[in-house]
Amino acid sequence: MANTDTVEIKIGDKTFLLPAFAGTYDEKAADISKLLAETGFVTYDIGYKNTATTRSTITFIDGDVGTLEHRGYPIEQLADQASYLEVMHLLLHETLPTQAQLEAFKEALNAHAGLPAGIYTLLDALPDEIHPMGMLSVVMNALSGYHPEAEDSWANPEVRWDAIYRLLANMPAITAAIYRRSQKLPYVAYDPSLDYVSNFLNMMFGKIDKVAAEALDTLLILHADHEQNCSTSTVRMVGSSHVNLYASIAAGCNALWGPLHGGANQEVLEMLEAIRLDGGDTEKYIAKAKDKADPFRLMGFGHRVYKNYDPRARVIKKYVDKVLDELHIEDPLVEIAKGLESAALSDSYFVDRKLFPNVDFYSGIIYRALGIPVNLFTVMFAFGRLPGWISQWKELREHNEPINRPRQIYMGEATRDYTPIAQRES
Ligand code: CMC
Repeated sequence: MANTDTVEIKIGDKTFLLPAFAGTYDEKAADISKLLAETGFVTYDIGYKNTATTRSTITFIDGDVGTLEHRGYPIEQLADQASYLEVMHLLLHETLPTQAQLEAFKEALNAHAGLPAGIYTLLDALPDEIHPMGMLSVVMNALSGYHPEAEDSWANPEVRWDAIYRLLANMPAITAAIYRRSQKLPYVAYDPSLDYVSNFLNMMFGKIDKVAAEALDTLLILHADHEQNCSTSTVRMVGSSHVNLYASIAAGCNALWGPLHGGANQEVLEMLEAIRLDGGDTEKYIAKAKDKADPFRLMGFGHRVYKNYDPRARVIKKYVDKVLDELHIEDPLVEIAKGLESAALSDSYFVDRKLFPNVDFYSGIIYRALGIPVNLFTVMFAFGRLPGWISQWKELREHNEPINRPRQIYMGEATRDYTPIAQRES
């Protein structure tokens, strides 16, 4: 499609021409930015199922084929060959780093590591019942208080990069501190001699396991970005008000928490465990998922964009057997998950609706094998997603996009007069 093409819409006897453009892979868009001014119409697209909110150069998904690329690199190649730090660099700085750039990147992260002592005091003061995702969002907001100069992160590039490096550098410590707070364990300090993922494992468990470090690095890569999903769109939406980076990321954490989004990884494990305790009858749960009168959904299945196998799930599934084998772990939930998958993929309900396993279906089995508790799974998702959120926020800033402010169609009462309380009918 040439960028000079147009889309014609007819309203009554008038014809309007909308400019049209296409993306790298010929994904077509009609630009409706002048539609309201020129026609008096807005578009109605509940859940944004047909709306592109930005022109991005970070991540591409072909949901029909089931492919995912970051800046052109297929996710399978990144998962198999790159390190998480290289992928972070790719997302943020647009290129895979040279060795010298990677060293400089590591130094920048090291220079920004170290959580303020008050963050630990804050975590201690929170109620025991708070979900780890609640803790994460509190910590993200609190960090803005320890770095008030970040109010300028929208306007000032130096402050912006400082906040970016600080967030990335501190995410392992934040995740580990949340875990240790929820387990009532003493905190472990950051060790500048360790690499990024080993540091995390050390702060979590007080020890480093090579198999665990490699598996975790891969899982973090697989979660690093996923274009305009609910939490990323939230980061961009909130960021478009020019609030500081910490607050924008806190908003993304809250969006990710939900069971239809990142919270699904926790729900999957709880579902698999419930099926195991119920005798392992996968057919029963497939039937429940198909029953419209039953609120049960097959968690870890289905996706707004993928109408094919989620490529991240494909990679994770491949790693499940390898990691469990290397860690000498036998997990009965693996067989239940595989049984559910094969039952679903041969059932017309799932086939007709193009419902396949998504990233959350198998990831929890690996987290569990690494000793990560189920209620921390979504924090692990956030840990991996952080460079994506930040890169998307940075892109929004670089494009200087306007404040996000959708329209609505008002369907309520028309203008009427106020009735004094004594005259209102009960
Ligand atoms: N189990 C049973 N039925 C399902 C499922 C499921 N997991 N997912 C979708 N459907 C059915 C749904 O009932 C609907 O059926 P019908 O056409 O008869 O009304 C049809 O499939 C289309 O579903 P939808 O809810 O309209 O699709 P959506 O694009 O709005 O929602 C989704 C996508 C991911 C929210 C949904 O598939 C879902 O709830 N999945 C389970 C939760 C989950 O695994 N979320 C993680 C998503 S991937 C990672 C992430 O974003 O964090």
